Formats: sequence, structure tokens, C-alpha cells
Amino acid sequence: MKNTKHIQVDNKPLSLNQLNQISTLINAGGTVVFPTETVYGIGANALDSVAVGKIFTAKGRPDDNPLIVHIADIDQLYPLVQIVSPLAKRLIDAFWPGPLTLIFNKRDTIPDSVTAGLSTVAIRMPADVIAREIIRAAGVPLAAPSANLSGKPSPTRVKHVCDDMMGRVDLIVAAGDVTYGLESTVLDITREPAILLRPGAITLEQLLDLGLSVKTDSGMLEQTSLSVPRSPGMKYKHYAPNADVYVVSDQHNAQQIQQIIDSFTSNGKRLRYIDLSASELAVKLFTILRTADDDAIDVVLVKAVSENGIGLAVMNRLLKAADFRVL
Ligand code: TXA
Ligand code: MG
Repeated sequence: MKNTKHIQVDNKPLSLNQLNQISTLINAGGTVVFPTETVYGIGANALDSVAVGKIFTAKGRPDDNPLIVHIADIDQLYPLVQIVSPLAKRLIDAFWPGPLTLIFNKRDTIPDSVTAGLSTVAIRMPADVIAREIIRAAGVPLAAPSANLSGKPSPTRVKHVCDDMMGRVDLIVAAGDVTYGLESTVLDITREPAILLRPGAITLEQLLDLGLSVKTDSGMLEQTSLSVPRSPGMKYKHYAPNADVYVVSDQHNAQQIQQIIDSFTSNGKRLRYIDLSASELAVKLFTILRTADDDAIDVVLVKAVSENGIGLAVMNRLLKAADFRVL
């Protein structure tokens, strides 16, 4: 058990004192939970493979699942990657800083532990001001996965972070609820056409509007048996609470939905039925899943939303949480 320190920032900028404390810790190979605009992340110096190893231990993450490297300024990108193509430049101009992670061919500066031995690296520049201040103060890129225990929903609130990471990391920077509530969009631009590996707040429509040709990965909305998934994270059961989650088709009428609800409650199941818009679900889905466990709920039914815009990311996370069970 580590003695986890806590810095409360809320809407204030970090003080010089706090930034020094964080930067000293990171440069000594420590682990720091910090907010981003998508979800909270656990950061460590991406150039220090021992520090990166501590992230995997803290999360209980399989070591074949690579991490995203977070940078604060564009100058930090060039030493990490082979080339920044014209396509990469257009995407960066349009969406960085922001919730878009790009896959590049990596340079040897990045240890194999970060990329799980892949020749590519995932990089993103978060929009969150606190995240960027921390990366700048540290003076190194930060490898940072979502700050949940492996298999749990990503943390969008301080309470989630503390539930999972207290005693497992050196420091938690607590700054209230995140903005988006779903992890970043992951786009592989080492291939032509680019492949959308994980949908997120930067939508497929926004990428297409830029004139990009984008393929979507088959694992996004259906269960696949790809023996070698393109994005290693896709093969793991994700976002799963203890409660049984089911997606309720949006084709049902109110009476049919009531029958589905009754079929569970008549068996004595404690049930929660969620019917929200795609944009509300984006922000609240992970909290809904975690709260269900806190409240010892047996079954969570969530009404499907249409797969346009942010709805694609919502349905991707929801179907995974439901193990692809649709009623
Ligand atoms: O919004 C986010 O992206 C958050 C915040 C903290 O930045 N981070 C996050 O990290 O969601 P994580 O580790 O939970 O998810 C990273 C995803 C995984 O599915 C992983 O397999 C994939 O990105 N990934 C990382 N490096 C990759 C690579 N070189 N090629 C393909 N996929 C990669
Ligand atoms: Mg994650």
C-alpha cells in the first residue's frame, strides 16, 4: 500500500508549489492521477520504463495493452514519432488540444513497456488546462491510461478515482467532474485509409467532414473474434460493473419495455432503467454503472441511442458493458 497524497484544485490553477511537488514526483519515477477533459488518467514519465511499469501494477492492467502518451505542446511530438504526415498535421490543427488520440510509428525514445512492444505509439494532447500544466511542469511526456482498476468503468469523478486508486498511486490531483465522460477517440493514421479504433468525443462525422477516408473497426459495435485485434485494448472486457447490464432496443414501445422490466423485477431483481439522450449518456454512463454497484443493483437496463455523432461512442461503451446483450 502506498501513502497516496491528495491535491484538491477544483477550478483554481495549480500553485507553483503544487506544480513543483508534482513535477518532482514524476521525475523521481512516481505515479500521479490527474484530470483530463475525457476521464481521469494515471500518469508517469513515458520515457522511464520502471515508472511506466508502476502504472500497470496500479491498474492490474495486462502488460500487452499499450498506453497513450500525453503531451502539452507540439514540440514534444517530434522526438517521439517517425514522421508527422500532412494528414497528421491536418488532424492536429483541427482537433489538438482535445479528445483525439493519434497512432504514429514510434521512435526508440519510447520504451517498449509503453507500447507493449508495438512499433506504433498512441499520442494525445489533452485540452484540460490542469493536465497540460502538469505535463509542462514535469517537462516529460506522460504515459497515462484511464485511472480505473482494469475492467472497471473509467473514472469521471474524484470519488471514482479514490475508490479505485487510493493506496495504489503516489498522488491524486482532484479537480471535480470531467467534461466529456468518455475516453478519447483513437485513430490509426499509420494506415491508409485511417482506422477508427475507438469512437469518442471527436466524432466519425467530424473526421469525415475534414475530407478523411476512415474505416471503422469491426469490434466497435459487435463482438468479434479477431485473434489479433488492431487495438489491443479492444479484446478486454471493459467498463463492466458487477450488475448485469442489458441494452434495451429503441424499437420497443413503452408497453414492451414495461414487460421487460417486469420480467426482472418479478424475479426479485433490484433493477434500474435508464432512458437518456446520447449526450447525457456520454457524460453519465460510467457514473451510472459505478453507482449501480454502490447501490447493490442487480440489473441495469439502458435504452439504446442512435449511433450518430457521440451516439457511436456511447453505444460502443454501452454494448461492451452489456457484453453485447440487447433485449
Ligand atoms: O481519454 C483518454 O484517452 C484517456 C485519458 C486518460 O487520456 N486515456 C485512456 O487510456 O483511455 P486507456 O489506456 O484506458 O486506453 C488506451 C487505448 C487502449 O484501447 C489501447 O489498446 C489503445 O488505446 N492503444 C494504445 N496504444 C496503441 C497503439 N500503439 N496501437 C493501437 N491502439 C493503441
Ligand atoms: Mg481505459
